[in-house]
Formats: sequence, C-alpha cells, structure tokens
Amino acid sequence: MNILVTGGAGFIGSNFINYILSERDDVFIVNLDKLTYAGNLENLKPSEGKKNYQFVRGDITNNELVDYLFKKYSIKYVINFAAESHVDRSILGSEIFYRTNVIGTNVLLEASRRYNIEKFLQVSTDEVYGSLGATGLFTEQTPITTNSPYSSSKAAADLMVQAFHHTYGLPVVITRCSNNYGPLQFPEKLIPLMILNCLKDKKLPVYGDGMNVRDWIYVIDHNKAVNLVFEKGRIGEVYNIGASREMANIQIVKLILNKLGKTEELIEYVKDRPGHDRRYAIDSTKIQTELGWKPSFEFEQAMEYTIDWYLANKTWWERIISGEYQKYYEVQYGNR
Ligand code: NAD
Ligand code: DAU
Repeated sequence: MNILVTGGAGFIGSNFINYILSERDDVFIVNLDKLTYAGNLENLKPSEGKKNYQFVRGDITNNELVDYLFKKYSIKYVINFAAESHVDRSILGSEIFYRTNVIGTNVLLEASRRYNIEKFLQVSTDEVYGSLGATGLFTEQTPITTNSPYSSSKAAADLMVQAFHHTYGLPVVITRCSNNYGPLQFPEKLIPLMILNCLKDKKLPVYGDGMNVRDWIYVIDHNKAVNLVFEKGRIGEVYNIGASREMANIQIVKLILNKLGKTEELIEYVKDRPGHDRRYAIDSTKIQTELGWKPSFEFEQAMEYTIDWYLANKTWWERIISGEYQKYYEVQYGNR
C-alpha cells in the first residue's frame, strides 16, 4: 500500500508517520514536505532508516514534482496534512495560506485524478465551521462559515475536495478535527508557547479576556481517528474528530502555570486576535457510531505528559525558537 503523506515533518503529520510505522508494516510511506519553518526532520527520528519510509523535500504546489512522485512510487493513496496552519500568521500575511492550502491541494487532487488513486484523505479542521456561541456543537451538517484567512483557505480546499468527488468521482474523505496538543507541536501555538514562556519566566500573552474556548484533543487520538477514516471511512463523507474537552484559554494557561510551579503574575492580557473565534466544540457522534472510534487519552494526564515532554526536550525547542521564530515573535507580540 503506497501512501503519499504530505506535511509529514510538521506536528501532526510526524506524529502520524511515527505512529503508523510503529503499528503497520504493510504500508510504504512517501513523506513530501517543503520543510517550512514548521517542518522539522528531527520529528521523524523514530521512522528514519525504515525500509518502508521515504522522505522527499518538496512543495505540494509543484506540479512536476508531484506528478513524478505519483509515477515513481505508484502512489494509490494520499493523506494531505501539508498546510500553513497558524491563524495568527494568516492574519499577518495570507498569500502563502491560499497558495499552499488551496493551490497545493488542487495540485494533489489533479494528480490523484490522473493516476486513479484509491483514496484521498483531506486533513481539515473544525475552524471551517466558524464560531459557536455559549452553547451548541459543530456537526458535519454545520454550514461552512469562515472567519480567518487560514480557515477560509482550509474551507476552500474542503469544497474543492468535495467537488472533485462530485464531478470526477474521485474517492475522497475529509476529517475535521479540533485543537490538538502533544509532543512536537511548534511553539507558536497556545500550549507550547505558554509552556516555554513559563519556563523562561516570560509573560504569558493571553488574547482578549482569555475566555475563548477550544476543544482539546491529544494528537495520537486525532491520528488514530485519521487512520480509521483512511481505512474504513465511507467515500465522499466528512468525519468530525474531537474529544469533548472544552477549555477556556485562561484555564489552560493556569493549568500550565500550576504544573510548572509559577505564579499568575506572569499572565498578561494583550490585544485580542482580530476576528477571534469565540468557541469551538465538536460533536463526534458520527465517527464514534459509524467507525467505532473514541478518544483514549484522558486530558489531565496527556497534558501532564505533554508538559513533561517539553521539559525533557529542551534541545528540540531551543533550536526552533532561535532565528526566524524570534523575528515572528517580535512582530506578533512586540506591540500588543
Ligand atoms: P504544522 O504547521 O505543524 O505542519 C505543517 C507541515 O506542512 C510542515 O511540516 C510544513 O513544512 C509542511 N508544509 C507547509 N507548506 C507546504 C508545502 N507547500 N508543501 C509541502 N509541505 C508543506 O501543522 P499541524 O498542526 O501539524 O497541522 C497539520 C494539518 O492538520 C494541517 O492541514 C492543519 O490544517 C490540520 N489541523 C491542525 C490542527 C491543530 O490543532 N494543529 C487541528 C485540526 C486540523
Ligand atoms: O481548531 C483547530 C485549529 O486549532 C487548527 O485548524 C489550527 O491549525 C490550529 O493552529 C488551532 O487554531 P487556534 O487558533 O485555535 O490555535 P492557537 O493555538 O493559535 O490558539 C488557541 C487559542 O489561544 C485561541 O483562542 C487564541 C489563543 N491564544 C493563542 C496564542 C498563540 C492566546 O490567547 N495567546 C497566544 O499567544
């Protein structure tokens, strides 16, 4: 089973590849990743050197390269994790988001059509459903309503994936997951950013009133669900993925402070994110009843493990937060 996995050097993709290759030896994985600021080959150490794993550095928007890889490796399956993934960066500059997330997905879909692949799995996000008020949950029937350049680029890709199924009969499935946490997450995202700032006794920049709510899932639970949808998901369908663990941002920040033995004086309320979605919450009844998935990690324990992972992997994040990331941090937080 030859699978093209894109974006496999990022947070979720690398956890996915390491997990799948530790579980299965009936797959051959070609990992196509551009190695942007968010891609890191160190994440793939457990998979390096395996005979059923091949890394290729390249861009999913590169038609010729993608075509060459489909032919060379007789690709029959695609799992598309590759994306520009950070909402704040999409607000600072949107172009690369549409290029990678929309044009890149189009290049992969066209190649999938030319080579008659057997399944195309698009890794999407609950952000395509917009924002919830105090109550209610996103279901697969919730209309697409996007608010950030990032979410609109992901929604555009989803609609295109569905159109390729409808028009050409391309065998596609889409997963829409809520906020992930766990080892190997790039420290621009809420949880690792707060952990690292705490460790350095730096201020913890909480946007707005800190009461925006996200629905947290451990990355391995997400990846198990992706694998299940890849194996058994019905063609043409969308599956929501979430672990029903809603938390206000300020609760997350306080949990991290508490675990690291720091005081709340480090908290700094800063200017809100423009267009900040208030609340996300996922109804994952469909994947649970149809495919038998359920989350297996308990939130407090998995958070504790995640924090310990960052404590134990200082060299991993120290390399990352030097250089380009420092420049981004200045632009993003300098004037807040
Ligand atoms: P990430 O930013 O950590 O990793 C993205 C990876 O894609 C990086 O390795 C990067 O080098 C690669 N990439 C970027 N542009 C590329 C291009 N043009 N060609 C090839 N590779 C390219 O992102 P993540 O958090 O691991 O997210 C992975 C996917 O899951 C994304 O599609 C994202 O929208 C989706 N998602 C993320 C979350 C979350 O909480 N992080 C939740 C739901 C869905
Ligand atoms: O819901 C799934 C989405 O979750 C994914 O599709 C995205 O790829 C992923 O980045 C994530 O998006 P969010 O915008 O929800 O994640 P982020 O970690 O950037 O922010 C989480 C919340 O924390 C959000 O309400 C903004 C807030 N926040 C974030 C940062 C970085 C702060 O208050 N301060 C910060 O410094």
